[in-house]
Amino acid sequence: MNATVSPRSNTALVFGGSRGIGAAIARRLAREGHPVALTFVSQPEKAVAVVASIQADGGQAIALQADSADAQAIASSVKQAVDTFGPLQVAVVNAGIYQGSPLADFPTDLLDRMLAVNVRGVFLAVQAAAAAMNDGGRLITIGSNTAVRSGAVGSSVYAMTKSAVATLVRELALDLAPRRITINNIQPGPIATDITADFVDQLVQRNPLGRVGQPDEVAGLSAWLASHEAAYMTGSSLTIDGGWAI
Ligand SMILES: NC(=O)c1ccc[n+]([C@@H]2O[C@H](COP(=O)([O-])OP(=O)(O)OC[C@H]3O[C@@H](n4cnc5c(N)ncnc54)[C@H](OP(=O)(O)O)[C@@H]3O)[C@@H](O)[C@H]2O)c1
Repeated sequence: MNATVSPRSNTALVFGGSRGIGAAIARRLAREGHPVALTFVSQPEKAVAVVASIQADGGQAIALQADSADAQAIASSVKQAVDTFGPLQVAVVNAGIYQGSPLADFPTDLLDRMLAVNVRGVFLAVQAAAAAMNDGGRLITIGSNTAVRSGAVGSSVYAMTKSAVATLVRELALDLAPRRITINNIQPGPIATDITADFVDQLVQRNPLGRVGQPDEVAGLSAWLASHEAAYMTGSSLTIDGGWAI
């Protein structure tokens, strides 16, 4: 007698999926067949546009307002994603902020905000997503090459937050392994998004490949990490930065 096997849900949740790298990841995961929930905090019209483009391509998507600095908002976004599409197969923790300042003038509220979103928010998102995930699911964080390369004057706090993410991922791989959930960290170098728009020319000049990366290039790596082929990789940080070595 054949046992009845219930179909496994394939839901993907992208924290910070309304612009830039996160939007490219949301679109790519939708093309790979995942129903996608994406969060945003401040620009609903951008989130709505990403959802509309996924739906126009025949995919399924919803946008959820959830500040990654707010534990309740994160928990609620996970619940809404699961209520809509079923347990998570993939979660990508992309939401992050960058603002530089010289040490002497570094504002304490900026320090607190970057720690709240880029470190505390990553931990809370992984914790909430893992609890709502299929065994064998995939967690992906978006760190930065500043965890392993010197960046620019004023970027120290940002680099510190991204180093914390790499360490967190390395250690959480052990917690998650018994459930065959993998967790890996992508460390992009300069990518053409709103974050880099004001100094893209400088970044191009300093990059060995003579260009900045495109959000779709990070999305491609995310799609591979989310796939069955990546089942043996966990706890890793993968740097994708055009060979930036300064
Ligand atoms: N671009 C680069 O060169 C680069 C390089 C290395 C690493 N990264 C990392 O890659 C990630 C994405 O960067 P990006 O360049 O694509 O940035 P971006 O264009 O500024 O987009 C950031 C995305 O995250 C969302 N977000 C920001 N703060 C949030 C919060 N508190 N709660 C929930 N969502 C939030 C934004 O939503 P709203 O539209 O609502 O604000 C938006 O969807 C970040 O973690 C960044 O540190 C970027």
